Amino acid sequence: MMEAKSFQLFPEQASSIASHVDALYAFLVLVSAFFSLLVAFLIVYLVVKYRHRPELGPPVAQHTNDHGPGSMILEIVWTVIPLGLSMIMFAWGVSIYFTESRPPADSMEIYVTGKQWMWKIQHMEGAREINELHVPINRDIKLTMTSEDVIHDFYVPAFRTKSDVLPGKYTTEWFRPTKLGAYHIFCAEYCGTKHSGMIGTVYVLSEPDYNKWLGAGSGEGSMAEQGQALFNQLGCGNCHPSVVNNQNGRCPNLVGLFGTRVQVKDGSNVRADESYIRESVLYPQAKIVAGYDDIMPTFKGLITEDGMLKLIEYIKSLGAKNGTMSTATPGPVETSASPQPSTHATAPAKTAPRGVPAAPVAPQQRVQ
Ligand code: CUA
Repeated sequence: MMEAKSFQLFPEQASSIASHVDALYAFLVLVSAFFSLLVAFLIVYLVVKYRHRPELGPPVAQHTNDHGPGSMILEIVWTVIPLGLSMIMFAWGVSIYFTESRPPADSMEIYVTGKQWMWKIQHMEGAREINELHVPINRDIKLTMTSEDVIHDFYVPAFRTKSDVLPGKYTTEWFRPTKLGAYHIFCAEYCGTKHSGMIGTVYVLSEPDYNKWLGAGSGEGSMAEQGQALFNQLGCGNCHPSVVNNQNGRCPNLVGLFGTRVQVKDGSNVRADESYIRESVLYPQAKIVAGYDDIMPTFKGLITEDGMLKLIEYIKSLGAKNGTMSTATPGPVETSASPQPSTHATAPAKTAPRGVPAAPVAPQQRVQ
């Protein structure tokens, strides 16, 4: 909770990773403190022990720099111990870093757009909020984030997690809240005059409270539904089939596209993820799908970052790798210009999710 606290060195530990980050930090502090004190103690001790004593007369020159076996042992000791300590720090840090950078596959997805100077947040079910983020407790939450202008950084100290939010690119960050309450969101990257005011609050709610909160949402439909409306409004459907087994031959079918690998004209292949879709909408000529012509106009300036996220969510809802399409559709539908054989007709005809509430694809089936 955010009410005034008595003296507190650390933010609360409100996520599954927080205690691990703190333990590593404590280890680093203890090791540094131990060696700082050791060096300080030795300086004082040796200064006193080898102080100048007039009664002993002038110092006698001695050859003290021989590299005999004694000093060899000393050298090995003061090499191996710091090496071992730093390797422990390295391995420990890497393990936490990998955990923090890989969202669990069944995470609940939430979208974040940073702009000078606010956080705009969209839930898949359609609810939207500004400078506030409501999440259920004990669920893995994955944020997919982008910026409308400059670099920001989404930082929740109580969760011990932060990630840069970049224009023209999607970054992710995930956490599992373990404690009910309200926690600070900070922007942790200087982004202009009101950077320090780019703050917000995460509310960790119980599952029933969260569902109640979601239910009171915008009434504008799920993100995928809003994305579909945008898809139609921009005329994307005039060319791109979004129905199984519909190939007009001019443009790739989008069903089952998300998460697959797409053959590109230059012979390479690329994963159809959020960044690929965004690039293909704004810079269609960047990666032409093999077998198709460079006929798509750019939609740069016609679509906002929020709108782009909705569009992506709609394309995801048309089926994803390991998603609803995978059992019936052997390969990426969009890599070939030739009509698909009708044997694929068993694929669930996931056309317009008309009136279907939210998340047409179960979250655990959606990879990335
Ligand atoms: Cu946004 Cu600093």
